[in-house]
Amino acid sequence: MGEKTISGFSKLSKMGKIKWLVENFFKDPETVKRELASYLLANEEQQRILDGFSENTISNYPLPLGIAPNFLVNGVTYCVPMVTEESSVVAAAASAAKFWLDRGGIHAKVIGTLKTGQVHFLWYGDPILIASHTDELAAHLTRGCREITRNMEERGGGIRNISLVNMCDREPGYYQLLVEADTRDSMGANFINSILECCAQAIPVWFEEHLPDDVPVPEVIMSILSNYTPDCRVHVWVECPVADLGEFEGGLSSEEFARRFYTAVRISHIDPYRATTHNKGIFNGIDAVVLATANDFRAVEACGHTWAARSGRYKGLSKCSVTDGIFRFELEIPLAVGTVGGLTTLHPLAKRSLEMLGNPDAATLMQVIAATGLMQNFSAIRSLVTTGIQKGHMRMHLHNMLLRLEATEIESAQAIKYFEDKTVSFPELRKFIEKLRSTLAVRS
Ligand code: MEV
Repeated sequence: MGEKTISGFSKLSKMGKIKWLVENFFKDPETVKRELASYLLANEEQQRILDGFSENTISNYPLPLGIAPNFLVNGVTYCVPMVTEESSVVAAAASAAKFWLDRGGIHAKVIGTLKTGQVHFLWYGDPILIASHTDELAAHLTRGCREITRNMEERGGGIRNISLVNMCDREPGYYQLLVEADTRDSMGANFINSILECCAQAIPVWFEEHLPDDVPVPEVIMSILSNYTPDCRVHVWVECPVADLGEFEGGLSSEEFARRFYTAVRISHIDPYRATTHNKGIFNGIDAVVLATANDFRAVEACGHTWAARSGRYKGLSKCSVTDGIFRFELEIPLAVGTVGGLTTLHPLAKRSLEMLGNPDAATLMQVIAATGLMQNFSAIRSLVTTGIQKGHMRMHLHNMLLRLEATEIESAQAIKYFEDKTVSFPELRKFIEKLRSTLAVRS
């Protein structure tokens, strides 16, 4: 085994892991050890819970939890929890939410809540034979999963549909068993995967027992939920008369603003380079709430990008129209999230995030998350088509840059004042701080 490799690492105690790590990968083991320890929670029980979320844990990795107030969604006011490392994201969401608060707020509608899973299998029999037995197979599998689905059915969810998809035109002998399920307020990944694995075991047996002897037995390749959930989808929108948009920075009229905003959104439908950045802005908002509520942001992102490419070309996720004097901006997006189970109630701050949102059901959380994505996108485009983003962005980033320069409180206050009406950049800020320091040094 090479240098710096180890076997049986996962069996070491936390202290053992840290010791091996710092001695092998850091120049100053004792300092690193102290630093890692400084991010551990004082409450040992809470730390044990956090450690249990992952493996080989050596410390915690803090990210800021911010809040964006004044989100009026379907007439209810929310204070939205957001976990993000990017400065200006929370401010942008809050600013757009405030803007629309005075213009009727955000409207939201859940279009569907079905999630999907697939059993992928190979079978080289007569496709007509299996097509004529699909309903029978589906009923058999549904009955076979009853043990797993009983609790969910009591909560109003369960399997909604089982169908067979013949994919032999793309791959010889390839079939999918498609399972659609309503998982109510849970994200439902374990529920769906358990159903699928139960079906995967039952399929070959059913073929053997219900079809003629000379029919081949299928070979199951794999069973897994799909993170593409187009039928678990939410629609959010804002609208108001163009005149009510008001005047924008630099004296831009509401008509000019609406036209420029509309064009910016159109560009995201035409050009994938712009579409990617446009959608990144939407996910700045979405991911931050998904993270704050301990949902799976990788699943949500993967799904959103597939949805963005559903026409065969990757496009911006939001739409804008200006018709009969009405400005409308909207976002329709699949979002598979949960408000019970998983980490949602185990993570102490996710629990508080959900409480902050009024302990919503999954459908309401979908609306709030999509609303945050829409507001984030509105704010970004508003800046892009008016002042450009650097002005606001760099001002927000100023704080991080001051930290990098180890600016004192006095230096920071002077820098903030100086850059109030100027574009901030790191070289400019460094120059300013250096000059300030040399002046102060001369005086003392
Ligand atoms: C930056 O994180 C996000 C933006 O680039 C989004 C956009 O361009 O629409 C500002």
